[in-house]
Amino acid sequence: MITRRKFLHRSSLATTALLMNRLPGLHQAPAVKPLTINTSTLAKFVDPLPIPPTIQPVDRRASPANPSVTVPCYRAAMRAFEMKVHRDLKPTQMWGFGSGFPGPTFDVRSGQEIMVEWANELPDKHFLPIDHNLSGAGKDQPEVRTVVHLHGGKVAPESDGFPEDWMVPGKSATYHYPNNQEATMLWYHDHAMGINRLNVYAGLFGVYLIRDGVEDSLNLPSGKFEVSLVISDRLFTPEGQLFYPVSDKPDAPWVPEVFGDGILVNGKLSPYLDVAARKYRFRVLNGSNARFYHLSFENGAALNQIGTDQGLLPAPVSLKAFVIAPGERADLVVDFSAHRGEQMILKSDAFAIMQFRVSADKVDDASSLPTALRPIPKMAESQAVKTRLLSLDEYQNRVAEPVLMLLNGTYWHQPITEKPVLNTTEIWTLVNPTDDAHPIHLHLVRFQILDRRRFDIFSYTSKRELKFTGPAVPPEPWEAGWKDTVRAAPGMVTRIITHFEGCTGRYVWHCHILEHEDNEMMRPYEVIAAT
Ligand code: C2O
Ligand code: CU
Ligand code: CU
Repeated sequence: MITRRKFLHRSSLATTALLMNRLPGLHQAPAVKPLTINTSTLAKFVDPLPIPPTIQPVDRRASPANPSVTVPCYRAAMRAFEMKVHRDLKPTQMWGFGSGFPGPTFDVRSGQEIMVEWANELPDKHFLPIDHNLSGAGKDQPEVRTVVHLHGGKVAPESDGFPEDWMVPGKSATYHYPNNQEATMLWYHDHAMGINRLNVYAGLFGVYLIRDGVEDSLNLPSGKFEVSLVISDRLFTPEGQLFYPVSDKPDAPWVPEVFGDGILVNGKLSPYLDVAARKYRFRVLNGSNARFYHLSFENGAALNQIGTDQGLLPAPVSLKAFVIAPGERADLVVDFSAHRGEQMILKSDAFAIMQFRVSADKVDDASSLPTALRPIPKMAESQAVKTRLLSLDEYQNRVAEPVLMLLNGTYWHQPITEKPVLNTTEIWTLVNPTDDAHPIHLHLVRFQILDRRRFDIFSYTSKRELKFTGPAVPPEPWEAGWKDTVRAAPGMVTRIITHFEGCTGRYVWHCHILEHEDNEMMRPYEVIAAT
């Protein structure tokens, strides 16, 4: 996935960042202190995996859907705090929900609506480098702005966290979540226009689980045997603070992607988890700004994937490894019973993500890994009333650095071009002539991946002629369920099919590489009523 151009670009970026951050006024700087530490030199597996608390409602409020009933209301405040991300690092300043990162976990039932008051109690100044050239982040805008989006939630537009619906410190917004959707792992995160990448990097996200009767009936590992693993990468200064890299242009600090060498699980660098020799269910979220993970066990143990972004797969898929892009989720069952007394490392290429210390004791395990999970009716292409051809475009400067990314050649502020009709099905054909894999996410809907297919990039970029050069490849087994985020692979056309249902109104679709999203790789779309 990393081409030569990208590799060169990234290495030069690292050096220019070093030069730019020399102390001001020191022309003959003595030994330049490194800006970031090499986290691989920190001791591994010395911190236990933290488990974020489950949030509890604070009161009940009238439902906006039906004022004669009251529904549980939660309150989650965004605050600045310090936390230890590693035994041997000083506490790190972060922003998060409540008092930790990741934020508290919501654990709700399908069909049971809730309200959440999201409160911005952050300071007035940002601590990460804002680029005022980006849409919505001009010098005339308040520095600290947040708006919360429930990723994967089927939510009305006024509660969806439209990027321009942000609030400043001291304000709050109460959103309504109907939870009228199948059991799955969603996540909530900031979505503020032009600074989303910084707010999420600062720590503004958490997990939101929806449960239902189908899931209950499967007897999957539960309680303390069900654990969320929120994975994200960061760079750290020698003082243990978050480091967000900048370009070599002081007035335009935006960089095309950020990759940290420190990988956090639930807010700790390379943690460990003591496990019993039995089955566990792991709910994995890639909450990174830009990094894709290629997850596997170092000892080759099987990962049984039972679900994806929008819920359970039809049947478990036994995998040695799989790829998870920013924004995607994976629901896994791992059986440690054949590994009593072992220490197993979950890795991504050269990175040791975390360690599982399997107890030597034999235990009874009454949970199951059923052979059938939840039937998924395959959406027929013939249902689609419209097919949209949408390109993913990257623009480079003279030295081949990406400077801008657009969806279908259009900027955020241009008039809305995607207006699907409520209760109709469409196919979105995502043409990716760039060198990057872009994880494309649509708000409101769940979709199925139809296929991916290689095409002739040159004839597309020069003549807008779409010529396929390979066969249509079906989705990977771990993606063959309901999705809300799809890897649009480089040099390929990726087709998805979706039914627009639930609400009319204005939503967004975007690349989930947050640096891309903040630099125009996001567009509004509108679900309109049938006439
Ligand atoms: Cu995960 Cu538009 O977001
Ligand atoms: Cu979303
Ligand atoms: Cu992208």
